[in-house]
Amino acid sequence: MNPSQLPGERPRSVQPVARLRGEPRLPGDKSISHRALLMAALAEGRSLISGAGDGRDVQATAGIVAALGAHVERLAEDGLNVNYMVVSPGVEGLHEAAGVLDCRNSGTSLRLCSGVLAGLPFFSVLDGDDSLRSRPVARIIEPLRSMGADLCARRSDSLPPLVVIGRSPLRAIDFSTRVPSAQVKSAILLAGLRAEGRTTVREAIATRDHTERMLRSRGVEVRRESADESGGGAVAWTLEGGVRLSTLDERVPADPSAAAFWLVAGAIHPDAQLTLRNVGVNPTRRAAIDYLVRMGALIDEAPAGGRPADAAGSREADGVGEPLADLTVRTSELRAVQLGPAEVAAAIDEIPILCLAATQARGETTIRGAGELRNKESDRIAGVAAGLSALGARISVSGDDITIIGPTPLVGAATRTLDDHRLAMTFAVAGTIARGATTIDHAESAAVSYPSFFTELERLRA
Ligand code: S3P
Repeated sequence: MNPSQLPGERPRSVQPVARLRGEPRLPGDKSISHRALLMAALAEGRSLISGAGDGRDVQATAGIVAALGAHVERLAEDGLNVNYMVVSPGVEGLHEAAGVLDCRNSGTSLRLCSGVLAGLPFFSVLDGDDSLRSRPVARIIEPLRSMGADLCARRSDSLPPLVVIGRSPLRAIDFSTRVPSAQVKSAILLAGLRAEGRTTVREAIATRDHTERMLRSRGVEVRRESADESGGGAVAWTLEGGVRLSTLDERVPADPSAAAFWLVAGAIHPDAQLTLRNVGVNPTRRAAIDYLVRMGALIDEAPAGGRPADAAGSREADGVGEPLADLTVRTSELRAVQLGPAEVAAAIDEIPILCLAATQARGETTIRGAGELRNKESDRIAGVAAGLSALGARISVSGDDITIIGPTPLVGAATRTLDDHRLAMTFAVAGTIARGATTIDHAESAAVSYPSFFTELERLRA
């Protein structure tokens, strides 16, 4: 069953909001929360993870870590975030799970767990909901097989469920990823920890580097080689296998992908000022902020409260090696922007909400080479185009390219989320400026990454 197909659930209606003011609470970064749980499972002893996002995706990874034999305890929770304690027997002490490992809606759980399981010499099956069963796994199978693990999947090894029979030790590889994917890169690096020798992953376009930063914080030497030191271009990551990870005691930064919904809401709404605290502004995750500023969004970036600033003016989250900032956005006059494939890759999760921003921007926005969006929780190109068109936007799709002409006043209508959390939140933000009511089917899917999203929206309205 899809996560948001709750019996009796009715479409949610969002009415326009006269004024948007306040400080929406944000979930802990989803990418970092998954990685923290997995690294806690690999490290022998007691780890503490504060402020992990409590969306259903991260809960799926927590469930998998527990099924493999680590003790996972929820120490405190507030309906948005959770503090975890993980006590692990260490990587050698993890064991075969009695049942299928349920990734639910989470592609990150699927790909990152595959990398961990490749180095564990037992049988595992990774499965999830209908959406997960349409996510590509060949990209994972190829490198992990060449490291010596046995993997197979449905439809000639292309779709989950995915079977992994791990091996220890693995063979180190030097691998060039075919699509820009931090999930694939991370799976290989996590498997590389269990390989004999040096594992290298090469990316033509740099993707988010949380795994690399967190491994470094855990005592692993991860080397980076790049032709272009400003990031963005080709990069190679290398680590030596056989290293033991140290335990964690970390606070997870607020999720910049969740923050993006409020940044766009604040910029496109005619009477808005919103502040977002302790947002992760890692250079490999902050692209959406930079594109919005390029579009004319009035976003002030200040060092996150209570921590010493580094030279760049940002501050670091405890122990995860991630820069943080407080962001304030105000009503803005936006202009169109042109994004190519590398720029899309850098903001892969934010493209739907950036499409909404483009409907309110003067001129013609083009987003080229966005094909990977079709491989997410839904076909996000089709989904965002259908939803925004229903609201009256001028948006067209040609192949993997999206064109949006603005500004266009939006008019409330029925939108379809395709059970995709990021589409649900995009259409809800659109509803705050659309004339009349915007209805969102399966709005509950927002809880995949942002359980209190609609509560925050109500609070801002008040
Ligand atoms: C993620 C990487 C991205 C992103 C996903 C989270 C991660 O996927 O879309 O939401 O945590 O590594 P790909 O790297 O496969 O594009």
